[in-house]
Amino acid sequence: MSEITLRNITKSYGSHLALPSLDLDIPKGSFVTLLGPSGCGKTTTLRVIAGLEQATTGEVVLGGKTVYSSRTGVFVPPERRGLGFIFQSYALWPNMKVDRNITLALSEAKQPVHVLKERLAEALAKVQLTGLADRYPSELSGGQQQRVAVARLIAARNSILLMDEPLSNLDAKLRTEMRTELKRLHRELEATTVYVTHDQVEALTMSDIIVVMKDGIIQQQGSPYEIYHNPANLFVAEFIGDPRINLLDGILRTSVGGRVVSFEGTDIPTPAGLHGADGPVTLAIRPENIAIVDRQGPFSLPAEVDIVQPTGSQTIISLSVMGHRITALIPRFETSLPRKNIWIEFPADQLTFFDKGSASRIPLAQVAPGASHAA
Ligand SMILES: Nc1ncnc2c1ncn2[C@@H]1O[C@H](COP(=O)(O)OP(=O)(O)OP(=O)(O)O)[C@@H](O)[C@H]1O
Ligand SMILES: [Mg+2]
Repeated sequence: MSEITLRNITKSYGSHLALPSLDLDIPKGSFVTLLGPSGCGKTTTLRVIAGLEQATTGEVVLGGKTVYSSRTGVFVPPERRGLGFIFQSYALWPNMKVDRNITLALSEAKQPVHVLKERLAEALAKVQLTGLADRYPSELSGGQQQRVAVARLIAARNSILLMDEPLSNLDAKLRTEMRTELKRLHRELEATTVYVTHDQVEALTMSDIIVVMKDGIIQQQGSPYEIYHNPANLFVAEFIGDPRINLLDGILRTSVGGRVVSFEGTDIPTPAGLHGADGPVTLAIRPENIAIVDRQGPFSLPAEVDIVQPTGSQTIISLSVMGHRITALIPRFETSLPRKNIWIEFPADQLTFFDKGSASRIPLAQVAPGASHAA
């Protein structure tokens, strides 16, 4: 069942159309992430759901209740929408200490004092701020203020949570810990969560559904697996994945052995059931799917190792392949590799193709698992 529905939402700021027409259904209890580059309309979408921003046209339905309709003129203010939110500017009350900031909504809801105390202690512990209840926001660092905002959300236990980059001011270690904590919070509260980030790792690790946006338009929505493995277009393919996906120009051909893609004179087998006409295409392969081999095979390409960058559990390898820069990723710590006498291969089932004109992914027909056009 859909807990949050946006229908045909448009939002203009003067002559600037931030959301040209947005339709979105968010299932009850799900963790949905809006992901996209700066200025793509993530915050605007969240503010429209919260009621902090009135859409220009369209409809917002929360838990089956219309809270905004440009047609009927309904507009329910944010405080009556029953949601908890953290926005980019974390907006703590500057004149209230941490404890009061966290428990304000609870005391307004006439919860007994012992509940306030319990929730405060629990929330502070979860964000690792025990002992700071007595400080004013101005006496905290940016990251600590952000965690107070998260604690407030934990304490309030709303059924819909909206979070706009709630971890952006934290250092890398704390960010990873808080990510785990927020995911656990979501599992415990079963609250429908809309999370905004431009950090793809956060999106991939936390979400049930990722919605990728660009210029106010949804490019794709799907599970992290779908977004990563079957990007709908070149924009999504390039936006997700670090190091970035490799994109190369190739020509699709049908040869005696089956469908191949010609790249710099080598005919590389393609996955079974590839649609699309013969002709120029963009071929894409993720760095971790490139095979590095030490002898030449029928589909291998000669490569020269340029830069080797170990990151700990993995190593990023920058290669030069017949004048093209290609990035490979291997799952081990490597400090150097022989510069020459290596080859790379593109396994057929790891190749994705994009139409040159529309930039959309060229789909595969449904085929039996494991089947391939490999010659
Ligand atoms: N109050 C405003 N007045 C005018 N334009 C605005 C206003 N708020 C947002 N915009 C514009 O609307 C577009 C979407 O902004 P929004 O804040 O939703 O982006 P975002 O995806 O959250 O970006 P970021 O990742 O930088 O936070 C941007 O082009 C922005 O400049
Ligand atoms: Mg924003």
